[in-house]
Amino acid sequence: MKTTKEKLEELRQLKEQAKLGGGEDRIKVQHRKGKLTARERLDLLLDPGTFQETDMFATHRTTDFGLADQKVLGDGVVTGYGKIEGRLVYVFSQDFTVFGGSLSEAHAEKICKVMDLAMKNGAPVIGLNDSGGARIQEGVESLAGYADIFLRNTLASGVIPQISAIMGPCAGGAVYSPAITDFVFMVEGTSHMFVTGPNVVKTVTHEDVSFDELGGATIHSGTSGVSHFSVPTEVECLRQIRTLLSYLPSNNVDDLPIESTADSITRAEESLDEIIPDNPNKPYDMKLVLEAVVDRGSFFEVHAQWARNIIVGFARMNGRPVGIVAQQPAVLAGVLDIDSSDKGARFVRFCDCFNIPILTFEDVPGFLPGIKQEHGGIIRHGAKLLFAYCEATVPKVTVITRKAYGGAYDVMSSKHVRGDINYAWPTAEIAVMGVDGAVSIIFKDEIANAPDQEARRQELVAEYQDKFANPYIAAARGYVDEVIEPRHTREKVIVALDMLKNKRDTNPPKKHGNIPL
Ligand code: HXC
Repeated sequence: MKTTKEKLEELRQLKEQAKLGGGEDRIKVQHRKGKLTARERLDLLLDPGTFQETDMFATHRTTDFGLADQKVLGDGVVTGYGKIEGRLVYVFSQDFTVFGGSLSEAHAEKICKVMDLAMKNGAPVIGLNDSGGARIQEGVESLAGYADIFLRNTLASGVIPQISAIMGPCAGGAVYSPAITDFVFMVEGTSHMFVTGPNVVKTVTHEDVSFDELGGATIHSGTSGVSHFSVPTEVECLRQIRTLLSYLPSNNVDDLPIESTADSITRAEESLDEIIPDNPNKPYDMKLVLEAVVDRGSFFEVHAQWARNIIVGFARMNGRPVGIVAQQPAVLAGVLDIDSSDKGARFVRFCDCFNIPILTFEDVPGFLPGIKQEHGGIIRHGAKLLFAYCEATVPKVTVITRKAYGGAYDVMSSKHVRGDINYAWPTAEIAVMGVDGAVSIIFKDEIANAPDQEARRQELVAEYQDKFANPYIAAARGYVDEVIEPRHTREKVIVALDMLKNKRDTNPPKKHGNIPL
């Protein structure tokens, strides 16, 4: 019979053993690959000393393939809760040193337990993924474990923020848990996501592709859009997760986290008065506009490398978080295409789920023409952005800086889709289409019959430009609430957001809408 002292000693030893995961040799291999261990990652993610671990002694129940005597305390995932900037979060961190971080029934149960706690207590879940996928020795129990997680991811969507960091392999069906979550981070060089790896690709399609080319951070952050953030190191990844959380409420009924700011509400930015080029076909950098308007240094871009013709991200206005959606005239003239519509729609919906006001900056020449876009379903994808703006009931403030053409005018948080306050700069051009195109269509015969066709065309362009390419017709109808001097945009937006801070609006009761996916 053990004495009390011996029992205490046993507990301490078991805990030390659990903390070693797959053992020192495997930890060395992990470090040699340039990766941190599951516990080192949690130490960097959470406020020091706040981590409370659950199920440290959980083990798998498999006896096949000689696994009966290969049990490792914790079974390849470290789970629990802790704090980030003093706010509660739930975490799981897969331990690649234990069966390659593969997911067993017990491993999945641990993850589900923290997800259930997170839902009951209304706090974000952060998953640090580093896993060889389903525990091959377990078979269907492992698949069931994944499905249990997918279901919880889905039910938690829109209730608590869910963040995934990919810090190693993430393959097969395993990718679908991060894919359902709100934000995916990938670490450059050490993380991969794919449904089937290079070997299977080679067998099925005869294509030769490396791990990185198929599903590395650069591909998923720049080409597929699966990942929202591509970060150079794990340390930077964990730091950025902390930053992202600083903009988010803990759940869908919680208040937004407000920070104090030294930036004056009335700060006027004279540079904005001159930022729009006289020539409407010349680009400018919308990021300069955003940076001039939001609280200094507060802009945090999401999906920075993907579909760069639209910009989305978080910022603060007088300390309050806002979600920003803005065209980028410096990339593809800020046109709406398939990817930028998807990117904008998903972000608008995230903000709406979590009561984050949406601030829209609009300079859009319309939807991108072309066979590739039409055949790729720009109608369906563009409709997502329209749907997302229409259904969003959060405060919506819009600033039209220049072009608001065609259907894109309606889409981009116009008055007609429940934009609350819609400002326009005097440089705004609100029209059915660009001046050149419009004149070529409506004055086709007149131009054709003119003795000097080009001179007549230019006259008509100037006439049309004067008459329609301005914000005053929309302002006369009340579609624009106020035409403002660009330098005062910050103050105007802050005052509008303050006025809207108790906004209540609802959609008709229904099970859920049917967004054109
Ligand atoms: C059990 C696994 C494992 C797995 C790796 N290991 N993956 N054990 N189940 N899925 C073990 C290895 O046997 C090894 O054990 C240790 O983890 C480290 O793996 P290595 O191969 O040595 O590491 P590395 O060379 O870095 O390669 C990592 C890897 C590779 C690319 C992830 O291990 C791999 O291809 N694993 C299989 C991936 C896979 O096909 N998974 C199933 C996907 S389908 P020892 O004891 O030798 O150190 C899937 C379905 C999900 O997940 C469906 C959900 C709906």
